[in-house]
Amino acid sequence: TTIACIFDLDGVLVDTAVYHYQAWKKLANSLGFDFSHEQNEQLKGVNRMRSLDKILDWGGVQKNNEEKEELATLKNTWYVDMISKMSAAEVLPGSLELLQALHAKGIKIALGSASKNSGLILERTNLTHFFDAIVDGNAVTTSKPDPEVFVKGAELLKAAAENCIVFEDASAGVEAAIAAKMTVVGVGEEKNLPGADIWVKDLSAVSVQQLIDLVVQKNK
Ligand code: BG6
Ligand code: MG
Repeated sequence: TTIACIFDLDGVLVDTAVYHYQAWKKLANSLGFDFSHEQNEQLKGVNRMRSLDKILDWGGVQKNNEEKEELATLKNTWYVDMISKMSAAEVLPGSLELLQALHAKGIKIALGSASKNSGLILERTNLTHFFDAIVDGNAVTTSKPDPEVFVKGAELLKAAAENCIVFEDASAGVEAAIAAKMTVVGVGEEKNLPGADIWVKDLSAVSVQQLIDLVVQKNK
């Protein structure tokens, strides 16, 4: 079996989930409210405008479209300030090693991210060259949990969905991968990522052979 791998970016390959959280928290605080860690889980994998809608909802704050654009831009300015200072040291444990091992075996690799900042992040962390295809927030019209981002990734890799493995830290992303009929490695806890095929703390716990076995097993 020839597998193909589609990686989420924030929280899977790089430690940017914490920057998103800090920037959204700063925005909410500036509007006079706060939100919890549990609520923050619901923002993972969700695109910028949908995230803002959820946050405003939690704060019971109403804004018109023009104000929302301004707030989203403000949050992104803070976020871009943070990610502009990133380095390869912020690649999460095991991610570089797994990308290298997949690349060495000639296994195709795509990015499947909701972020419009993926280009900058991949560049700052020296990961760009690993990707045969990049599908990010600039390339899709619908947000995870819609499967579009992964379906496009598989298309670009010329891979059948049943041979694709998605790596996700977000519940919305796991849902999207399931809807795309792909195998899912949940990066995080089972309780936060229902429906994944396996769960790992980070990618250091994953070998290429294990991924191939997982797909073979699932397609039986
Ligand atoms: C996802 C993150 O990867 O990208 C979300 O998990 C984020 O938290 C989304 O909102 C969009 O990112 P950006 O960089 O386009 O604001
Ligand atoms: Mg993520």
